[in-house]
Amino acid sequence: MPPPNNNHFCTCSIIGTGSYVPDRVLTNDDLSKIVDTNDEWITTRTGIKERRIAAEGQATSDMASEAARRALAAAGITAADIDLIIVATVTPDMFFPSTACIVQKKIEAWNAVCFDISAACSGFLYALQTARHYINTGNRKTALIIGAEKLSSLINWKDRNTCVLFGDGAGAVVVQRMDDDAKEAPGRILSAVMGCDGSLTDLLKVPGGASAIPVTPENVDQRLNTIHMEGRETFKHAVTRMCQASEQALSMAGLTAADIKMVIPHQANLRIISAIAERLGIPEERTFVNLQKYGNTSAATIPVALDEANRSGAIQRGDVVLLVAFGGGFTWASTVLVW
Ligand code: ACO
Repeated sequence: MPPPNNNHFCTCSIIGTGSYVPDRVLTNDDLSKIVDTNDEWITTRTGIKERRIAAEGQATSDMASEAARRALAAAGITAADIDLIIVATVTPDMFFPSTACIVQKKIEAWNAVCFDISAACSGFLYALQTARHYINTGNRKTALIIGAEKLSSLINWKDRNTCVLFGDGAGAVVVQRMDDDAKEAPGRILSAVMGCDGSLTDLLKVPGGASAIPVTPENVDQRLNTIHMEGRETFKHAVTRMCQASEQALSMAGLTAADIKMVIPHQANLRIISAIAERLGIPEERTFVNLQKYGNTSAATIPVALDEANRSGAIQRGDVVLLVAFGGGFTWASTVLVW
């Protein structure tokens, strides 16, 4: 039986999950008509079979708001009960206002303070830990944490190295402070770690379109406003950092890999997930994978997967669950929960 919480935090629990993906499906075969690629290459190198693409005019906040509504319904609370909204995204609706403010308007959560977090694919776990600190100080009680991305807006559809990897979607959780006597509350967070190495910013980035290289017709022609990635280097760092972060979070919770019922990792590449599971000594059936359906949706992968694992019964009350992410920055993070 895991300890209730050894991380000097109040008991803070996920009380509801929700997710949303757009209807439009883009298959590997569809992509093979746009760039020089094929289903066999994409499947064997990544595990991805298809991804979802947002509809014309559908913004990140639209997907985020729908995921949020579903998480609120699952938690059995109303938008008025939310006092903090954090949206993790690298594809905000606009530079400002924050996507979290736009979500507040769309779901009418008028009692919330709202801001975004940018930590690429680690963004959701960064946001979850940030909310936990706010809740721990007593400053906030009930937070809505959303990972939402419209990565299709950052893709260079002529670059086969990147365009096959990404998709759109959103996932959300409601996190709440539990009473002092609720040490065994379901969904409680046991531990969390975050890390960053800003010396490696150049390996994965969208170089243009913001203050360093403002938009001009010339740099749009050069596709500077799209994702640039050194895939092989990113892969190596992802495996190393996700393993380290997992071990740190487990140790902080007083647990080992043998205690984990399910790992819900960032869904970037099946080979990354397999390498992590092997290094941690976790059997394949205890890793949750849905990237074949959605590709890499950056900050959305973990909350979408957590919601699917919850609703499908892949995780049950009392299960120890490990969440672990890696993304541009480089950033990484891991969280241990008891479901
Ligand atoms: N179809 C066919 N061939 C392709 C494709 C494609 N879609 N893409 C690349 N190739 C070719 C390359 O041109 C190269 O050909 P060459 O040998 O003739 O030069 C060959 O396939 C091998 O390319 P690599 O890049 O070495 O392939 P690799 O096995 O490394 O797989 C991949 C590439 C899938 C991108 C992998 O490196 C990866 O998953 N990296 C990590 C991604 C990740 O974790 N990102 C982190 C989070 S993302 C975020 O934060 C937003």
